[in-house]
Parts: sequence; structure tokens; C-alpha cells
Amino acid sequence: MIRLAILLSGRGSNFAAIHDAISAGKLEAEIVAVISNRPDAGGIARSLELGYAAHVVDHKAFANRAAHEAEVLRLLRDANPDFVVLAGYMRLLSASFIEAYRNRITNIHPSLLPSFPGVDAQAQAIAHGVKVSGCTVHFVDEGLDAGPIIVQRAVPVLDGDDESSLSARILEQEHGAYVEALQKLSGRRYTIDGRRVLFS
Ligand code: GAR
Repeated sequence: MIRLAILLSGRGSNFAAIHDAISAGKLEAEIVAVISNRPDAGGIARSLELGYAAHVVDHKAFANRAAHEAEVLRLLRDANPDFVVLAGYMRLLSASFIEAYRNRITNIHPSLLPSFPGVDAQAQAIAHGVKVSGCTVHFVDEGLDAGPIIVQRAVPVLDGDDESSLSARILEQEHGAYVEALQKLSGRRYTIDGRRVLFS
């Protein structure tokens, strides 16, 4: 049984998918904290509906990144998670935060990395004209959307797609991909060899 702390900034559909998988007995995990950096995130209401008290740590209320992260780290220390699960968390993490949870912070990104890191990945994919895109669950390191890859899922990019239709197709795959990644991390031994995550 792995302990998960969820960090989010938005509507929280990946968080809800993880919760649903736990409830359905498909993922042996426990959500021990939900933290949002945005007081208006839809994920907070979602969290309360699902029975978790969400912590709001509004980054705008702190003098700088270090002070904001110190408060998030304090909550994480209390919750004692095995993994810090970024689920639409739109803040860059400092090197010292990453070091505190080295190879224990996961993120989901709506492209097949290393293509299209950063913001608006789906719009970047359309503008580039790729025929296949998808999503990536990876460990977080100091690079932007750059750490070792745990799971990827691909979707076609169709001629009629705009950012919204491609985002919806990718999001459907994100939910399964995040659950699959956490299943792998909870159930199997793994090593990280350079950039490769190897499961035994
Ligand atoms: C998801 O599409 C996720 O891949 C993306 O934010 C959305 C959050 O949705 N994350 C990033 O772009 C991170 N760079 P959700 O709040 O419904 O889970």
C-alpha cells in the first residue's frame, strides 16, 4: 500500500481517476494529502466531494518560491507520502524540493516527451503537425518535463483536431496512464538507470 500526496492546480480529473482506481480496488494506495496552490481550483471541491480535506497553499500569499515550498514541504512531512503525485500542478519545483523527494515525485504531461515540454503541449503538437501525440508519466527532475519516463500512451492527431479536441482525447488516456504508472510503482520493484525506469 503506497501513500500518495496529490498536488494540483486545476480541475483535478487525474486526481479523481486515481481516487476511483483506489476505490475500485485496482490500485493499492492511500491518498494522504491533497494540496492546491490555487484557491479557485476545481480540484478542491472535487477533493471535498471525494472525502479528502484539501489544503490550499496559495503561492500568491507567500513572499517567494522558497517560502511557498516550505509550507508545502511542511504539509508533506506531516502526511509522510511515499510519492508526491503532481496532477495538473502548474508550478515549477525548486532543486531543493526535488532533492527532498528524489525519484519520488511523479508528473503527468499531455505530450509524448521529450516532444513539446512546457505549457500548451497540445497546441504545440497541433502547430507542429505531428500525427501522433499522447501523454507521459515521469519522475520529476531539475529539467522542464524532463525526468525518467514511467508510462506513455499515444493517441492519433486527426486532421479536424483543434487544441480542445486533442486535449480531450489525450486526457482520456491520461487517467489510465497515471493509474497504470502508480500500479507499477506500488506493485513492482524498479530501478532507475540513467534516464530509464526498469521494472523487474
Ligand atoms: C492535464 O492535461 C495534465 O496533463 C496537464 O494539466 C491537465 C490537468 O488536468 N499538466 C500539464 O500540462 C503539466 N505540464 P486535471 O486537473 O483535470 O488532472
